[in-house]
Amino acid sequence: MCGIIGYCGPLDAQGLILEGLSQLEYRGYDSAGIALFDEESHMHFIKKVGKVAALKEACAKDPILSHCGIGHTRWATHGGVTGENTHPHTVGNVTMIHNGIIENYHALTENYHLQGKLKSQTDTEVAAAVLNELYTGDPLGAIREFLGCLEGSYSFCIMFEDRPGEIYAVRNMSPLVAAYTGSGAFIASDLTALLPYSRSYFVVPEQKIVKLTAYTVLLYDPDGRECEPEILTASWNTNAAMKNGFPHFMLKEIHEQPEVFKNTILPRLNKGLPDFSDENIPDELLKNVTGIRIIACGTAMHAGMVARALMEPRLRIPVTVSVASEFRYEEPLIDDSILSIVISQSGETIDTLAALRLARESGSKVISIVNVKGSTIARESDYVIYTHGGPEIAVASTKAYTVQIAALYLLFCRMALARGVYSEEHAQSFTGSLLACAPAMEAMIQKKTLIQEIVTHIVGSPDAFFIGRGMDYAFSLEGALKLKEISYIHAEAYAAGELKHGTIALIADHVPVVAIATQTNILAKTISNIREVKARGAYVILIVTEGTRIDNGLADVLITLPATEDKFTVFPIAAVLQLIAYYASVQKGLDVDQPRNLAKSVTVE
Ligand code: M6R
Repeated sequence: MCGIIGYCGPLDAQGLILEGLSQLEYRGYDSAGIALFDEESHMHFIKKVGKVAALKEACAKDPILSHCGIGHTRWATHGGVTGENTHPHTVGNVTMIHNGIIENYHALTENYHLQGKLKSQTDTEVAAAVLNELYTGDPLGAIREFLGCLEGSYSFCIMFEDRPGEIYAVRNMSPLVAAYTGSGAFIASDLTALLPYSRSYFVVPEQKIVKLTAYTVLLYDPDGRECEPEILTASWNTNAAMKNGFPHFMLKEIHEQPEVFKNTILPRLNKGLPDFSDENIPDELLKNVTGIRIIACGTAMHAGMVARALMEPRLRIPVTVSVASEFRYEEPLIDDSILSIVISQSGETIDTLAALRLARESGSKVISIVNVKGSTIARESDYVIYTHGGPEIAVASTKAYTVQIAALYLLFCRMALARGVYSEEHAQSFTGSLLACAPAMEAMIQKKTLIQEIVTHIVGSPDAFFIGRGMDYAFSLEGALKLKEISYIHAEAYAAGELKHGTIALIADHVPVVAIATQTNILAKTISNIREVKARGAYVILIVTEGTRIDNGLADVLITLPATEDKFTVFPIAAVLQLIAYYASVQKGLDVDQPRNLAKSVTVE
């Protein structure tokens, strides 16, 4: 939530920061603003409600020659979407931008007698006022004291009016990466904004202070001693974060799936067997655990539900899936006999991170499945399986979902081997079938024109339902989430057998029902449930695997997947469900990549 960027160096700071904000805009797009030191060391502020484009337009009218500045794109938490609440916030000598939430802002307001003195409703302005109180000309000393006053999550970039050409930054839980290059010093919420300038970077360690000048980036520990950052190299390039001719990032990312799916699997196969020796995951761990807890949010949680449906019946141990924001408050039964699998594209989702910490405190070993290298979740886990999805920019998660499931399937297969559930031949056959899902996904992506036509019916309806049983139900959850988040059509996923316990009351003439029926052991029962909705006038879009016998009149539209074993149908189905949501959003003329009220990376609880 919120994108922040800072730059000091020889290049045009205003232009560079605005471009960086465009890259970071997927993190929040309610309002945006910049603060710049000009060549005479005067500070300038430009802020706009709305998207970064509005800020760019304002800046074009008021270009400022600058070599040092900070910029922010906001996802509103404290205070509405107004000009006053737009960052940067300035109090006295201090100007700052913030990503996160200061939880003790009430106490700080009282302790520092700030009532009636602030211009905005933001917790950030409270933080700026506190730092201003503490500042007596020593930035590092004041920031150290400031950190001791704060509760909550934050990444801050700070400028002091009397220290032109310097930017200070700190973080707690919220992400921040920094780099020094021949073109100057950079700091940003994530790598996408740095990639045009550098592939070497470091993750700012929590509670350490970074100081940027045009000539250097320095890191200080909490005692004020200079320390060395751990330099990482990005495996992504700038191309990966561009649309490359596609009208939207989401469509591009849907198309990338067969490729990134293989990129995630192939380096982890050794003679056709899954191999996690690079990740140092010991077979002993996989063999001895007596249960698995999968923890994640949103789409990542749905990936976990698919994995649960695969794992529990075959491994014969309990596998539970928890919404990360609920996990901590469930008083979960978890100890060192339980393996926790934490899933996150960004690796920064704060609820998931908090759940991970609790799992580890309880003695459970954590394997995380993460897309963003060096992210907090990755760094705090016992073991990390990186998905090689490349940057996912569209707010709606697509390729991250399929690569998460690919990694989970490989992990399952290794567990099945380690526990004697699968022989080597069986495991090789499993990974062979898994790899065959890449062309199956491609085949469904190529059916996009058909899907585009089908969507016309959904777009005309205020509601849509997704139904299925077993694994098909897990897919339905993801289909409904995708549709509602980018098309704003009310969509519900239902276990097909559960409909008749209430929800079937909502089925009337022409209500679209996307019915998924790919699990052969329960096909007859799912078909009966489809008949029930059809009998009540539903417009049925039925997804089945090639070769499934379907009675005439059961479906209004039939989507057929290439012949795929039941346990692997998720991959081609994911492409279909993503394209349904995508075209619904396009046909409604909505902002596909940046839907309202959302942000890519959810770093607030
Ligand atoms: O970065 P994460 O995978 O932890 O994000 C989890 C969810 O916020 C994310 O999947 C969200 O549900 C997507 N917008 C769904 O498309």
